[in-house]
Amino acid sequence: MSSFWHPFAEMAKVQHDPFIIDHGQGVYVYDEAGRQYLDAAASLWYMNVGYGREEIIDAMAAQARKLPAFHAFIDYATRPPIDLANRIAAVSPDPGAKVFFGSGGSDAVDTAAKMARRYFNAIGEPERTVFISREWAYHGMHPYGTSLGGMEPNRIGYGGDLVADIVIVPFDDAEAVDKAIDHAGAERIAGIFVEPVIGAGGIRPVSQDYLTTVQSMVKAAGGLYISDEVITGFGRAGDWFAANRFGLEPDLITFAKGVTCGYAPLGGVIASSQIAAPFFDTPGLMFRHGYTYSGHTTACVAGLVVMDILEREGLIARAAALEEEIFDALLPLEELPVVDHIRRGVGALAAIQLAVGDDETLPARAAASCRAAGVLSRAMGGGALQISPPFIMTPEQVGEMAELLRAGLQDL
Ligand SMILES: Cc1ncc(COP(=O)(O)O)c(C=O)c1O
Repeated sequence: MSSFWHPFAEMAKVQHDPFIIDHGQGVYVYDEAGRQYLDAAASLWYMNVGYGREEIIDAMAAQARKLPAFHAFIDYATRPPIDLANRIAAVSPDPGAKVFFGSGGSDAVDTAAKMARRYFNAIGEPERTVFISREWAYHGMHPYGTSLGGMEPNRIGYGGDLVADIVIVPFDDAEAVDKAIDHAGAERIAGIFVEPVIGAGGIRPVSQDYLTTVQSMVKAAGGLYISDEVITGFGRAGDWFAANRFGLEPDLITFAKGVTCGYAPLGGVIASSQIAAPFFDTPGLMFRHGYTYSGHTTACVAGLVVMDILEREGLIARAAALEEEIFDALLPLEELPVVDHIRRGVGALAAIQLAVGDDETLPARAAASCRAAGVLSRAMGGGALQISPPFIMTPEQVGEMAELLRAGLQDL
């Protein structure tokens, strides 16, 4: 028994028998007994460049020896966050954007919500406090993210809403967004949070038309379009951001995960030139927000090397190609009785929707059985298995992944 309290875990069970991953290489991880597992989920959607990248580790070690970190409050800075912010802005839909760092996706979402409200206060529209969010959405677990979440079990049990003024609408219905705006009053809308492809809620893509329509509706109401790209950012959707791929112009983009591929915790918000302008142009105006590790020096070095690797090895194009390859490889699994259908994602994303029916235990049993067969996945919202492999996965390994999943699912 250990003192470690696992996230999202039934500790009464888990404390006695944690499943310990010991090391990793490429698309594989190994337990303490040396057994190999193909990582079909890239850990929690982030190990995009694969395990064992000496180049990242060496750069981080060199930075940590020179200066592990120095804070960035007021006018302090170190070079890596400045360089990384410039590179991120350059590949975002608005090269004039500004980047505010935190330590992960939940920091990013709560920063974005506060930034939006602070922006509206600064421009004289303080009544804009209402955010729209979508069913099945996952926006992290800080107070704003929890309340913005579209899966009820994650929201309840706290004696009420953690944050007020949030309206949740169906995830794929643009008209519902229009109605929500009318109902709250356009003048009260601060913005909408949209995952371009719903991730933890089951990998649920929407049409490009939905995304552009909703963006126009919210912008026409005077609110901000906030693209939560914690999963889709840094290549997973087949472009630097899904916003680039779908021709969107978000006011704010949240990112985390793939920016450092797990070699260090890092996340942030990309604020468009328009949203950043009051803060950068108005003497005396300050966003009184930030974290000890906003712009953590060594974490930002990891981000810079990850961007080098993505560019040099053409891994964003590889993620785009994986969309078809994964779907084609998984489609034959539809013949298994426990599989309802294979859901195609965008880029390196797909879901195996299980035929759950009344059997609520099936998703967890399916994930456990796949693990026993040597492939790691995860049960997501709505009873689907997550498929989000590292971008370096070869066509042969895609085939191996499908075979291991079949072995895990066929005897259930
Ligand atoms: C879309 C989205 N937003 C926010 C988060 C929260 O990120 P983190 O767990 O790094 O706090 C996640 C995590 O999975 C996510 O998928």
